[in-house]
Parts: sequence; structure tokens; C-alpha cells
Amino acid sequence: MKTIVDERASVLRQAAETIIKTLKEKPETVITMAAGRTMLPLWNLLGEAVRNGQCSFSKATFFQTCEFIQVPENNSLRRMTEDKLLSETDLDPKRCFWISEGNLEDYDRMIQEAGGLDLAVLGIGDNAHIGFNEPATQYDTRCRVQRLTQKTRAQFAWMFGSAEAVPERACTMGIHTLVEAKKIIVLALGEEKDKATFDMLYARDDGIIPAAFLQLPYDVTVFADREAGQKL
Ligand code: GLP
Repeated sequence: MKTIVDERASVLRQAAETIIKTLKEKPETVITMAAGRTMLPLWNLLGEAVRNGQCSFSKATFFQTCEFIQVPENNSLRRMTEDKLLSETDLDPKRCFWISEGNLEDYDRMIQEAGGLDLAVLGIGDNAHIGFNEPATQYDTRCRVQRLTQKTRAQFAWMFGSAEAVPERACTMGIHTLVEAKKIIVLALGEEKDKATFDMLYARDDGIIPAAFLQLPYDVTVFADREAGQKL
């Protein structure tokens, strides 16, 4: 596991460069990217890179990492991704797949049929969840429904107006689905992620801290700004 702690603008640029490099090496990259506040500035940089001709997503395949269940369409993570990533880049909507209760049982197979995940770009929850794999979670989990913790519902209160308005359940890629990605990037921004970032690196990988499963020997790079990295 590689960790980079730097100024926010620098870690965002380095994370974007890693994605750009992956796309250059393999234009048909199969990618999953979480959605949330952390991703918005990264998506801006990727949009710029596409507009400047530095990279293209046109041959890439995108799989959504996780989504709330019974969510008003205009508050969904899908809508956020469509508005802020697809509209900024040249991702082909025909090669974008959206996780839902309807396709959950097939989602792992769909990923495999697309060739498997080359790159997973993840944020981290305030409680160190990845995707929506909440504490405690088992290692051997595939795409599934997850009941959300109060802490996670509070984390998303900004999107829904209050924690109570945040859906109680979500669909998510499982831990096993995520760690099968050939390369994983985790982006952690802000002071509220400092404990989660520390735990991701140093807690026991026993499922109480889902992100700690990323300590197992995979190609994982954590990009943390100085605030998120302040406990390291
Ligand atoms: C949860 C979401 C992810 C998101 C993360 C961080 O894990 N399922 O999609 O990356 O929270 O969210 P935010 O970037 O809004 O802090």
C-alpha cells in the first residue's frame, strides 16, 4: 500500500494523473469510481484532461460502485455521476452500468464479462467504509444490499437535507469485488477523514474497519490531503 500525503491540489492532480496514465496504457480500461463530495474536484480535472486531449474515456467501461436504494432520482449517486462525470468526459453512456437491486445478482458477472475491473477509484467513509461496505463487513462479500449506519447517513445529510432523509439501505460492490481490481486508488480529503485514513492503514484487517482490507497486498495507492493525513 502506497500513501501520498500532500496539499489538496497536489494529491488531486496526482490521482488524476494515475487515472490518465491508466487510460493511456489501456484505452479499454474497466473502471469503477465512487461518487461523493471527494470525487467532484477530481472529476473536474478529468474533464479538463479530456478537453485538452490528454486522455479519453471513449473506449472505457464504467461500473457504478454503489447506490442508495429507494432514492429520489435527482438525489441519486447515479445522477451526481451523470451530471458531474459523464457530462465532463467522453464516457460512452452505452458502456456505463448502474448498480441497483434489479441487477445486483448479475453485477459481479457483468464486471467479469467486461474483463474485470482494471481500476477502482474510491473515496472513504467517515467510518472507514469503502463503497457502502459498512463496519463490520466480511472479506468475502460480493455485490449486495447493505444497511447504512447512522454515521454514514449523517455523512450524506448534505445531499438530502438531514440524516433521517438519507435512505436506510444501499447497493454496493462487495469487498471481494473491489479488491479484485488490478489497481485501486483511494482519495481522502479533509479533517473529517483523518481517523478513517489512519485506520485504513493501521487497523487490523478484521472487518471492523472495512477499508483496512486494502492493506492486503494489492496495488493500492492512498492519496490524502494534509488534513486527512494528519494522524499518519
Ligand atoms: C461513501 C460512498 C462513496 C464515497 C464515500 C466518501 O463511501 N459510498 O461513494 O466515495 O462515501 O464520500 P464523500 O466523498 O462525499 O465524503
